[in-house]
Amino acid sequence: MPHYGDYQNAIYGAGLAGVLPTVPVDFATLEQRAAAALPASVLNYVQGGCGDEFTQRNNAEAFHHWGMTPRMMVDTTSRDLSIDLFGLRLPTPLFMAPIGVTGLCTQDGHGDLAAARAAAQTGVPLTISTLQNDPLEAVAQQLGNTPGFFQLYTPKNKDLAESLVHRAEAAGYKAIVVTLDTWVTGWRPRDLNSGNFPQLRGHVLENYFSDPVFQSLLAKPPAEDKQAAVLQWMGVFGKVLTWDDMAWLRSITRLPMVLKGICHPDDARRAIDSGADGIYCSNHGGRQANGGIAAIDHLPGVVAAAGNAPVLFDSGIRSGSDVVKALALGARAVGVGRPYLYGLALNGADGAAHVLKSILAEADLMMAVNGWPTIADVRAAGAERIG
Ligand SMILES: Cc1cc2nc3c(=O)[nH]c(=O)nc-3n(C[C@H](O)[C@H](O)[C@H](O)COP(=O)(O)O)c2cc1C
Repeated sequence: MPHYGDYQNAIYGAGLAGVLPTVPVDFATLEQRAAAALPASVLNYVQGGCGDEFTQRNNAEAFHHWGMTPRMMVDTTSRDLSIDLFGLRLPTPLFMAPIGVTGLCTQDGHGDLAAARAAAQTGVPLTISTLQNDPLEAVAQQLGNTPGFFQLYTPKNKDLAESLVHRAEAAGYKAIVVTLDTWVTGWRPRDLNSGNFPQLRGHVLENYFSDPVFQSLLAKPPAEDKQAAVLQWMGVFGKVLTWDDMAWLRSITRLPMVLKGICHPDDARRAIDSGADGIYCSNHGGRQANGGIAAIDHLPGVVAAAGNAPVLFDSGIRSGSDVVKALALGARAVGVGRPYLYGLALNGADGAAHVLKSILAEADLMMAVNGWPTIADVRAAGAERIG
């Protein structure tokens, strides 16, 4: 039976023939190489975070103060990484987090399509952002048999919100992820110092430009007057959501709904009570607020409050061992963010797929070595604070 860890044999085997991985397998080298490859404006936007970026660094660093104890004399020759999520049986607990500038990370400007092809290659679901260079329908066509999720930045115009959600349903996306922490952009010094905000330059707005409700708000089609379309986008972006909006949000889709950006146990409880099907514990990778606490340190409290509802997690995942620790702390599914963007930047769909396969290989090998043949065993093992 093949295992994700077999990827290392493929790499060592190729090495015998003098063929080295095109894209590095570790995050530090990956980031270094991507930094050299990406245009400065895109790199600032992708790599940068809020304030002095402490939260962003801490998200990744904090995994080092969680540890797990190996068990021996367990037969782990056969491993199963599969999970159930929203009625789907997924081969692994990994998914790609929504990233608004995925489109800009490949040289052809179609990084969203490349990310979907990476999902198709690996079976790792892609969460597409509302902010894309290619419309959600075109991206869905590249997903093959791998499920996709649609992340909604809820517009102020409710008809537009409903239209986006209904298009996502019609295109076959399997869940709606409503992001709560981004009705306004956080203070991002790298982007401010370079005076660059991609959306204002007309990038990544194709889901809006292709939408009939959005088009009805314009005097001329976006292709004829892009500036007016961008101005209209500025006008509709960023509805401030409160718990009072949950009944409406719930009413516009029958798909499972996940609330992204939840870090407080009370918010997790309230989300489930208000009809959410899942919680997405995340601090947006430290891009939105520099509050200091790493997302992984919020996870145990959120998991305890969520009861039986699935908790998705991201922010700071850089390796397979990070994934395993997040699972041990109760995440049902774990989101990879910046690492897959760097893979896209270096080698398109294959690069992103390589990053995902490397993370999965390390996670699988950690389970093999440490005596945890299934995700249930990882969860039972738990993780403890070591610092
Ligand atoms: C460049 C960039 C753009 C992002 N765009 C979105 C987005 O459009 N919607 C969203 O919900 N989250 C967005 N995020 C947040 C990610 O979904 C995720 O929470 C974050 O990347 C996790 O942090 P990490 O990549 O450092 O692990 C973005 C993150 C980055 C790095």
